[in-house]
Order: sequence, then C-alpha cells, then structure tokens
Amino acid sequence: MAKRSNLLLLITLGILWSSFALFTKVSAQNLSPYFTVFIRLVLGGSLLYLACIISKKKIFEPKNFSKYLITGFFNSIVPFTLFAFASRKIDSGILAILDGTVPMFEVLMVILVFKEHVSKKAIFGVFLSILGIFLTSTHQIKIDNFEILPIIMILLGTASYAGASIYIVKKCKDIDPIINATGSVIMSALIFSPSIFFVDFSIVFEPKILLSLAGLGFICTGFAYLIFFKLIDEEGSRFAVSSVLFIPVFGAIFGSIFLKEALTINKILGCSMILVSIKYILNISFKDFFATKKVKKIKVAILISGRGSNMQALIKACKDVNYPAEIAVVISNKQDALGLEIASKEGIKTKFINHKDFKSREEFDAELTKVIEQNNCEIICLAGFMRLLSGQFVNRHFDRLINIHPSLLPKFKGADAVGDALKAGAKISGCTVHFVREEMDSGPIICQAEVEVKKEDNKETLAHRILEKEHIIYKEALAKVCQNLIKMEK
Ligand code: GRF
Repeated sequence: MAKRSNLLLLITLGILWSSFALFTKVSAQNLSPYFTVFIRLVLGGSLLYLACIISKKKIFEPKNFSKYLITGFFNSIVPFTLFAFASRKIDSGILAILDGTVPMFEVLMVILVFKEHVSKKAIFGVFLSILGIFLTSTHQIKIDNFEILPIIMILLGTASYAGASIYIVKKCKDIDPIINATGSVIMSALIFSPSIFFVDFSIVFEPKILLSLAGLGFICTGFAYLIFFKLIDEEGSRFAVSSVLFIPVFGAIFGSIFLKEALTINKILGCSMILVSIKYILNISFKDFFATKKVKKIKVAILISGRGSNMQALIKACKDVNYPAEIAVVISNKQDALGLEIASKEGIKTKFINHKDFKSREEFDAELTKVIEQNNCEIICLAGFMRLLSGQFVNRHFDRLINIHPSLLPKFKGADAVGDALKAGAKISGCTVHFVREEMDSGPIICQAEVEVKKEDNKETLAHRILEKEHIIYKEALAKVCQNLIKMEK
C-alpha cells in the first residue's frame, strides 16, 4: 500500500487543483489563452526554481534538456493550452469534472500502448470513476448549448497528462522530481514566450484576473507540481494522476459551502462513486490505512526476477499486525516477472528497473539503492533475484541484505543447487536463509531447513519440496533479523 503521507499529499493535490478550472476560465476569458498559459508557466516556473535554489538542486543539466522538453510539452503546454481554449466555451465546472478522466487514459495507455498488466480492480475503479464523473456532471451539461469541440479539447488535454506521467515514470527515473518539474515548466515557458506579442495591453488587469493568474501559476502549477512529480516518482503514474478524481469532489464541497450551490442527489451519488473508485484504482485498504500497529514494523524491500513465491510468503506473513516487517516495495529487473503482478495485486508498490538501461553493474545497483532508500527500507530480501550484486551494494547494505538458497549451505552453492545435490547423491538437502556477502552464497546463516532426498526424486520434485520449506523459513528468518534490529534500535 502507498505511504500514508503520500495519500494525504494526494488529497492535498486534489484540493490545490480544485480551483484550476475557475482560475483558467477567469484568466483565459479576459486575456488571450496563450498569454494565460505563458503567465501560468512563468509564475509556476519561478516558484519551482525557488524550490530548487532552496534545496540546492541544479536544473541546467544539458543531458536533461530533451526530457524537460517532452515532459513540458505533454504535461504543461498541451493540456494548459487546450484547457485555456476550452474554458472560453464551457463552464468551469465541466472542465474541472472532465479533468477526472486522466486515470482512465492512464489505464488505457498502459494496456493498449505498453501492453502491461492492469489489475481487474483498477479497471473496475476506472469504470466506476467514469460513471461517477458522468453523474456529477449531468446537471451541468445543458443540451441546448452543448458544445462537442471544447469537450474533445479537454479530453485530449487529459490524455496528454496521462501520457506525460507514464513518460516520466519510464524515461525520467534518473532525474530528481523537483528538477524535472522545474526544468519542464521553465522550458515550456521559454517556448511560449512569443505569446507576449499577442497581448492586448489595453486590457485592465482587474484584481480578479491578477488573482486567477497568481492562483494558476503559484498554486495550480508551482506548488501542485512539487507534489505531483514527487508522487509520480515515489508511487507511480496511476497513483499521482488519481489526484484529479478529488477535483469534482472538492469542487462540489467548496461550491456548496462558498457559492451556496445545491448538493443534488446526482452530485452526492457521483462524488461517492468517485471516492469509492479511488479505493479500487489505488487498491487502498481502509482497514490497513487506519489499523493501529501492534508491533513496530521494519520496512523491507524485496528484489525478484521471476515468479515470486517466496515474496508471496513474505507478503502473507507481513499481513499479521504482530509480524515485525512490512513490505514497502518490490523491485524487479524483469518487466514480465510474475511476482510484480502478484505484488501489485496485493496493493504493494512495485518498481521495474531494467538492468540493461545502465552502463555498469554499479550504476544499476545505485538505482536499486535509490529506490530502497526512498522507501525507507532497512532490510532487503533477495527472493529469486537473478543478478549478481556489486561489492559496493553488498557492503552498503551489510547485515541488512538477506538471501534464500535451495541447499544446506555451505553445500551446493551456485545456480543449480538442487541438480548438484541430486548428482552428488545427497541423502539430505534443504534450504538456507543467510546474510549476503561479496562471495556468492556465503555469509552468516540465519535459518536452515532440511529436506529428505527420496530415491525417486528428480530436480522438479525435490525443488518443489524444498520450496515449501523455503516459504516457512524465509519468514522466520526475516522476523528474526527485524526483531534484532528493533532491539538494537532500542
Ligand atoms: C528459489 O528456489 C530460491 O531458493 C532461489 O530462487 C528461487 C526463487 O523462487 N534463490 P520464487 O521466485 O521465490 O518462487
């Protein structure tokens, strides 16, 4: 499950964005849409740049420029411009509600373009969100002046947002989220700077226009992007874009409080559907969210490359409130690892890091460390992770990195431990959980379990019986390591 603090940030983002449609309408109707977008980008970019200066982050890295350009184009230029034009023809309420279609486009793109698995729950959630959006907006769409073009523009804008967030996850993982937010907005502002020539300077900048521009720039772009890019980086694109689903909900709440708008049955029903849809899209368990933990839980990262049955055993153990560990992230170097699918169905954060994207073993391992540390993990479990780890990585996580091996170590080290035990005519084999050291399959032993080798055994039958034991001892070993850590921390 996502971090509780990130869920709160997600709701905050929904609140910040709930005013974007009104601000866009007021600004774009009085100024040109292009100029509105330009000022939005300049103000948002200035605030983000300030955040970079304060946090001492460098944004002028030429190697990032093409990524700023692509991110900025799809995440700012396209949606901001389309929304600004659409807002001149359509109610701000409709613009705000239709913005809730971003998660639908994200899911569609992941399935159709990237051919990746999306859980049935998430698909159901998206379906429900669309029904909710439809219900919430029915009273706003007036058939007599229904305009299809602005609606198409808004949908193109939301699709562009979805594409951008997937692009950021897939291609910008090497850029700090604040840097990418800042670089992409500043780059977009530069592209938009010629719009200054289209300004009608005879316009009186009334306070409401200035306020709307400031709201759009500072709140809906500057502050909002600080949160949005952080959420994309830490929780993935689907999580981050789901924030837009809070916009119609807060729109209805604020509308009824400040503008005395009626809370119709349709609105209440639609908003409730949208809220429930978020639970399904993000696979949030309210029970887990509000559960009071009985024991301190150490955050654990699991590294896999394949089916992940050991990972599953650990996930199951962690569900017990008295088990001293929780799985914060599952990382795989194989995109099609079955374990990734299982973990995401369980609502656990997953991350695919392709080792082929890195020039050296050390660089790949550094990326692993980055994700592990971002998720505040104190223990790393290797569970069928088919990559040798560098000495640098092993030593950085000394006594925090554990592995499971299908033999009674130190016997039968290596990739074909079960086959080797059979070839050697061993009467007893088994499995071992051990701390990882630079030398392969060595390191202090934490737990072992014996398995009798039968005469009729082949590799498959023996491996199967060993695996059953692995699932038992891995969770015992992890609990031991976490309890020791907790004692040491005390
Ligand atoms: C297990 O046999 C384990 O001992 C070895 O890799 C295999 C992983 O299996 N290190 P699974 O992916 O956990 O099912």
